[in-house]
Amino acid sequence: MAFKISQSNKIPAFLAMQVMEQANQMQAAGGNLVHLEVGQPSSPPPAAVCRALEKSLGHIASHGYSVAMGNPALRQRIAAHYQDWYQISADWQKIAITPGSSLGFVIAFLSAFDKGDRIAIASPGYPAYFNSMLALGITPQLLPARAAQDWKPDLEALVANGDIPDGLLLASPANPTGVVMRDVELEAVCRWCDKHGVRLIMDEIYHGLSFDEPTQSALAFTDNAIIINSFSKYFCMTGWRLGWIVLPDDLVQIAERLAQNLYISAPSINQMGAIAAFDCYKELDAHIPRYQENRDLLYRGLPSIFLGDHAPSDGAFYLYADVSALTGDSIAFAGRLLAETGVAITPGVDFDAFQGRTHVRLSYAGSTKEMKKAVQRINSWLAKT
Ligand SMILES: Cc1ncc(COP(=O)(O)O)c(C=O)c1O
Repeated sequence: MAFKISQSNKIPAFLAMQVMEQANQMQAAGGNLVHLEVGQPSSPPPAAVCRALEKSLGHIASHGYSVAMGNPALRQRIAAHYQDWYQISADWQKIAITPGSSLGFVIAFLSAFDKGDRIAIASPGYPAYFNSMLALGITPQLLPARAAQDWKPDLEALVANGDIPDGLLLASPANPTGVVMRDVELEAVCRWCDKHGVRLIMDEIYHGLSFDEPTQSALAFTDNAIIINSFSKYFCMTGWRLGWIVLPDDLVQIAERLAQNLYISAPSINQMGAIAAFDCYKELDAHIPRYQENRDLLYRGLPSIFLGDHAPSDGAFYLYADVSALTGDSIAFAGRLLAETGVAITPGVDFDAFQGRTHVRLSYAGSTKEMKKAVQRINSWLAKT
């Protein structure tokens, strides 16, 4: 008897997660691995956050549901964070806490779009955008981003082609390129979206991790965008599965109803602990020079044949390298590197429909010692191959 399975069966795997699983298995079998595949900080959450979590174990409320939009005290603290970081006054009642920003995207998609609507996304870009849109019946519209255009998509081409989408989803700092939009560019995108009635979803989950100057939130330039953020990256709380969204007026109620029905609430106890995270900027900022040092180490240590025409990596903790001089099959290339050196990297096909076969992503979120090991192993491998 054949039972029905859904069209979600066609959704591609998230290769970075698969590479991580393979690398973890090799490590469990005694392998000496260097992890450049995972997009997560190697540092623990701030000590005060862990203490707040421990303390909240004693409160009965921590063990039940929070309201669907999230613990009011945490939402108020996030609103204050917009004042602290961006000098923006945000209404805490329009902030929703989500189980990771991953669920924040689902809320954003389902609250603003219907099946068949088109959302434009940059390629290269974070693979789950494309894949979760497919799962929800939304059509991703790929906008090529190329080295020649600073890895930023060309929105005016959409106007010229009469191809204006229903939504636009952009990230800055971006994954996998590390490219950061300047404030004037972000403002221009917000104006463009407002002018053309395109709902902007701005992924700001790598905010706090830019190396030149702090990035402004899209909230400063428009009231119509959905802002997505997370505790996973700057705050070093990846496994806590907490994110947040700042909603425009017209989407607050629908997002609340979706949250009530899709997940009831984000983990309450983690929400209690997370309130303390906003008192820990100093401790968290201390990681940034390490990321920058790691990036510079890779830039300096890897040969140009491995880096190629790479993206500038001004933020997040990724380097998107052009390995076209070495391979036209980034999956096989990453597989060989892993098997022969123990260095795990992610093939570009995960992120990039156009140039993914000739690109790879390196995450430099780990320790500087690990970066040195990676450089040494890659160089001796290249010398032999
Ligand atoms: C650009 C981007 N957006 C969203 C996410 C999802 O993060 P989380 O669900 O941990 O908040 C990631 C994870 O790596 C990412 O790189």
